[in-house]
Amino acid sequence: MLPTDSEENTRKMSETGRDSSLVAVVLAAGKGTRMKSNRAKMLHTLCGVPMVNYAISAINSLLPERLMVVVGHQADEVRAVLPEDAEPVLQRQQLGTGDAVRVALEGVGDGEGTLLVVNGDGPIISDRTLGELVYRHRSAAVGATVLAAELPDPSGLGRVEEDAGVVRIVEERDATEAERGNNLVNLGLYAFELSEIRWALGELSSENEQGELYLTDALEIIGRKSRAVTYRLKDLEEANLVNDRAQLARAEEILRRRILDAHMKEGVTVRDPVSTHIEATVEIGRDTVVLPGTFLRGGTKIGSDCVIGPSSDLMDTTVGDGALVEHSVGRGAMVGAGASVGPYAYLRPGTVLMEGSKVGAYCEVKNTTVGKGSKVPHLSYMGDARIGEGVNIGAGTITANYDGKNKSRTEIGDGAFTGVNTNLIAPVVIGDGAYLGAGSVVNKDIPAGKMAVGAPARVIRDAPGNVSDAEDENAGRPQFETEG
Ligand code: UD1
Ligand code: CA
Repeated sequence: MLPTDSEENTRKMSETGRDSSLVAVVLAAGKGTRMKSNRAKMLHTLCGVPMVNYAISAINSLLPERLMVVVGHQADEVRAVLPEDAEPVLQRQQLGTGDAVRVALEGVGDGEGTLLVVNGDGPIISDRTLGELVYRHRSAAVGATVLAAELPDPSGLGRVEEDAGVVRIVEERDATEAERGNNLVNLGLYAFELSEIRWALGELSSENEQGELYLTDALEIIGRKSRAVTYRLKDLEEANLVNDRAQLARAEEILRRRILDAHMKEGVTVRDPVSTHIEATVEIGRDTVVLPGTFLRGGTKIGSDCVIGPSSDLMDTTVGDGALVEHSVGRGAMVGAGASVGPYAYLRPGTVLMEGSKVGAYCEVKNTTVGKGSKVPHLSYMGDARIGEGVNIGAGTITANYDGKNKSRTEIGDGAFTGVNTNLIAPVVIGDGAYLGAGSVVNKDIPAGKMAVGAPARVIRDAPGNVSDAEDENAGRPQFETEG
């Protein structure tokens, strides 16, 4: 953690609890040419989170007075993923990193303070490193500080030379052979005194290989007047910047492992970390076991004592305590406590499985509530339905919920029973305790407690199990039915 008492002289807290002398800028206007993508680099996700949001959340723990994000390429799309507390600033033309900072500063008054500049393509950079960069910068009382690291493979990055209070950064494409031999690189994170960076930006020239205004030149300019220094990165893992897809995969792997480690530390068993993908946003309760080949994504929340997987893929899905989800896909579904899903079930948006219910092999469920203890065990499609409690849906029962134009609802009352291959032609209501024979095609409501068979289904008597049938327990039983 940051030292706190010596920090007091340099850090002023505003009434909001924010650091009133810290302004932060994330540079996120570039295209990311080396990604070879139709999407701006900042929108590529790592563990489900757009790249730009990693820099933002690391900066946010420093509580800057303002956090600006310079957007340009696909500005609308990038704006759309930013958190509320980040202020987008539009850079109309991508004239270089120096120009990007100039645009951001247009909206900042002429007060004193520290400007933290962070390239948006360093998703592993930690809040600790950013905090230390700012702290060192302030306690050294210099005009500019840049985060640098000695890397075994410096290729593609700006090379940093430091000499007696002057820091010179040369881009690889502008570098001489000798300069390229230097392994000390610029990681694209800087702390500047606002008063220094303001005038230094005015001195930049675009006389370089790319014809851009390089922010990096500001370090040399500032260094010659006041002082500029480097701060060395401690944990080299954080130097995993993302310029191409291979680096994207490497950075994501680091984040993915960290997420898994955090869950394991909190009491989740991850059987095979190599094949388990859990996005940054997912929550999991203790003593839950996540089996190989499982993807947990988006706003998925898993309770405790669950078994998830193998090979399950849940997106924005809530799973209650003690539930089982095996070889299944969930999208915007809710699985109640103790419920059982799969193998090979597909739960689509609006699926609600109440406590102790079951959706078994090769079933698809959409916009449907399955009541407490009810079972949809085999080969069914349930769409736009409400299934009461203690219902048994026979194998192959299908809701015909769509007539080519309209979607219609199916209501199935408590304790009802459908035989195998029942077709429920919606809209239709099956009363409590009703009993449908195998192969029946139901296009009219079936009253509670009645048994219906055939195509179209007609009521033939009371459902078995009703008082009036008590003397003949096989009365009216269809020839084929599912097991319980
Ligand atoms: C930059 C540094 C380089 C450093 C590297 C670290 C310069 C001149 N060079 O090079 O020394 O080693 O980062 O990653 O700064 N951006 C804008 N507007 C622009 C141009 C860029 O917002 O007009 C943003 C990009 O979206 C990106 C960041 O600035 O997030 C860096 O730009 P990029 O083009 O990736 O710079 P590099 O060539 O990698
Ligand atoms: Ca870059």
